[in-house]
Amino acid sequence: MTSKTPPFTATKPVTRALRGNFFDIKGVASAPEEIESQARYIEDGMMLLSGGEILWLGSREEGERALMNLSYPVPLDDYRDKLLVPGFIDTHIHYPQTEMIGAYGEQLLEWLNNYTFPAEAQYHDLDYANKMSKFFINQLLNNGTTTALVFGTVHPQSVDALFTVAAALNMRLIAGKVMMDQNAPEEVLETPEESERDTRTLIDRWHNHKRLSYALTPRFVPTSSPALLEKVRLLKQQHPDIYLQTHLSENVDEISWVKALYPEHKGYLDVYHDYELTGARCVFAHCVHIHEQEWDCLRDTDSSIAFCPTSNLFLGSGLFDIGTSWQKQVRLGMGTDVGAGTSFSMLQTLGEAYKVGQLQKYRLSAFEAFYHATLGGARSLHLDEKLGNFEAGKEADIVVLDPNATALQQLRAGNCKTLAEKLFVLMTLGDDRNVFQTIVDGKVVYSRTESVRA
Ligand code: GUN
Ligand code: ZN
Repeated sequence: MTSKTPPFTATKPVTRALRGNFFDIKGVASAPEEIESQARYIEDGMMLLSGGEILWLGSREEGERALMNLSYPVPLDDYRDKLLVPGFIDTHIHYPQTEMIGAYGEQLLEWLNNYTFPAEAQYHDLDYANKMSKFFINQLLNNGTTTALVFGTVHPQSVDALFTVAAALNMRLIAGKVMMDQNAPEEVLETPEESERDTRTLIDRWHNHKRLSYALTPRFVPTSSPALLEKVRLLKQQHPDIYLQTHLSENVDEISWVKALYPEHKGYLDVYHDYELTGARCVFAHCVHIHEQEWDCLRDTDSSIAFCPTSNLFLGSGLFDIGTSWQKQVRLGMGTDVGAGTSFSMLQTLGEAYKVGQLQKYRLSAFEAFYHATLGGARSLHLDEKLGNFEAGKEADIVVLDPNATALQQLRAGNCKTLAEKLFVLMTLGDDRNVFQTIVDGKVVYSRTESVRA
């Protein structure tokens, strides 16, 4: 697997070496059974970086030999009791819901009216949006999430604020301003013309700037008039490499409402499809209650799903069918869906995904769970050429996990015999306490400041 003369010696300078235990999934899978054979674990390994690029990963001995052959010194970070995995990818999250996470007592439509729209209305204020953007990005990084597909609010300044913070860190982030022109309070509505104008300005300013990409963000069908959906269609046609993010079939009352609003359409997805809002880089959150033809349409159009277990449980929306997503070969990533989701932690999100599986007799292995949070997520965003594992040439976004962050984890890990068990315990008991450092673009952007061991 590793060569005697690592290729980096001839090409780019080595700027940093990382020593530690490395885990990733080497290749894309078309069935869950394939994932374990793609899993790579290198105990006491070494990774060499050139700035924000992964140059090489292999054994410590080989890495040290390569470093000795260089004519210049290379700083070495020693993570020998830590587990390094590819940065987590969150494929569905709302940054302007951070301050209302964990709001009590409602299912989707009441939750939106009672909590979400009032919270989002505050983002007309750029100072507030700036403050919350910093808070939000810090939460991602504290949890080891290095890439996310993010909803802003209807206010374009919400997205300016978020992209400004992400650009300063050179994060790979995708975001967009919400587009909505009906069925919500005045403060969070716009006209289709305003929506088009403001979206266009943001695309020009941010799409493909540094590592940032823009996502057209019609909130969901109930807040979209036909005129607004026409605007989204036009923008998508004019920007073929753009992303699109929205919600689909999360809640049964939502679905009935869509039927009443768009009676001439065959179903919920058919509304998006009819406006040509399906396809590669279109990411549909939830898809809890979708039908056979809708699964087929998602696959045939190469659309993606964001599975958001903590949100689906918290709002009582229902159970996403992981098994069918494999059978139907639909691209799938994990989403925290904060603030309907109850945690920024991808580890906790995977733990809840396991329980969603259990309730349907689907056994989600740790290998599969980590796949969805890394390479699978990257694939769902069409970023697997750049992110998702430690292949040479990929971007150096890495999370350094401390598997023994608490006394309980230490005790439990001591009883684990296999890697699969250790990873499973991490996703069952783990959270932000397990994130020792987060590396973005080859630089440490978050360090746990104090030991949280009990
Ligand atoms: N559907 C429309 N808007 C939202 C939202 O903000 N959160 C969730 N979970 N579902 C939605
Ligand atoms: Zn959402």
